[in-house]
Amino acid sequence: MRRLVREHELRASDLIQPLFVVHGSNIEREIGSMPGVYQRSVDGALEREVDQVHALGIPAILLFGLPAAKDEIGSENFAEDGIVQRALRHLRQRYPDLLLITDVCCCEYTSHGHCGVMRDGAVDNDATLEILGRVVVSHAEAGADIVAPSGMMDGMVAAIRAALDGAGHTDRAILSYAVKYASAFYGPFREAADSAPAFGDRRQYQMDPANVREGLLEAALDEAEGADILMVKPALAYLDVVRAVRERTDLPLAAYNVSGEYSLVKAAARQGWIDERRVVLEALTGMRRAGADVIITYHAQEAARWLAEEAGR
Ligand code: PBG
Repeated sequence: MRRLVREHELRASDLIQPLFVVHGSNIEREIGSMPGVYQRSVDGALEREVDQVHALGIPAILLFGLPAAKDEIGSENFAEDGIVQRALRHLRQRYPDLLLITDVCCCEYTSHGHCGVMRDGAVDNDATLEILGRVVVSHAEAGADIVAPSGMMDGMVAAIRAALDGAGHTDRAILSYAVKYASAFYGPFREAADSAPAFGDRRQYQMDPANVREGLLEAALDEAEGADILMVKPALAYLDVVRAVRERTDLPLAAYNVSGEYSLVKAAARQGWIDERRVVLEALTGMRRAGADVIITYHAQEAARWLAEEAGR
């Protein structure tokens, strides 16, 4: 009877698996603060993982790259042979029907670790838009289906849409990190992507956790600029924001179950303090109930496996 009257469903097809790619060969390096999450080289190491994602019915991956070298403007971010571009070409050929999404930001690529180019100790918003345009065109050319700008620059969606269209990539979509908070829950990610700011923090461009109306404004702006999917990030401490955005837009909505949310669960599970499987499925179901159509989560493969087992019962 509970199954018959269930109001919200969590499915493997709702999930996006984030993956970290690095230069080199045969690399499969576990991230200390994120047990079960690895940096992988673009060869068998990555293929083994993506084969599993695909086999589990997870429709999409979100790629993050660690460059060989960093500089002031993050040149590898838009290089033809950059790490994400190489991964895209490799995966596009091998998995024609897997949705390839790329995170589009400067922080992994710049020597200072900020999400844009700097001028006088602050991010230069409009100079950054020009760089983002070059990044998305290089990702589209390498085979990305969706680009996901995460830097919270003003006007980023419009600039990216114009750059893609100008290069003939009118068929590529934009998943905007529209409502992104300056959150301590990104802590473990900064180890995974080696992207911690060298000085200062991200409060110039990321939102105050105390604000929800500002999030609605950010979402409305991105929708007007041409975003195809909106995102709220992080997820668990912001489910009210997910619900509020859901009620204001008819666009598909994503929630990002971020690194710190993942690591908290993993740490408690290792101690034997929680039932990991139930906690994960409950948290992901809560995101769906709050109004998220799509969930980006490091738990994607485990969750898909558990859901398949439950369906088989
Ligand atoms: C890049 C970016 C970040 C995350 C996704 N893209 C880090 C940040 O903004 O500092 C965080 C993801 C996570 O914590 O899982 N700007």
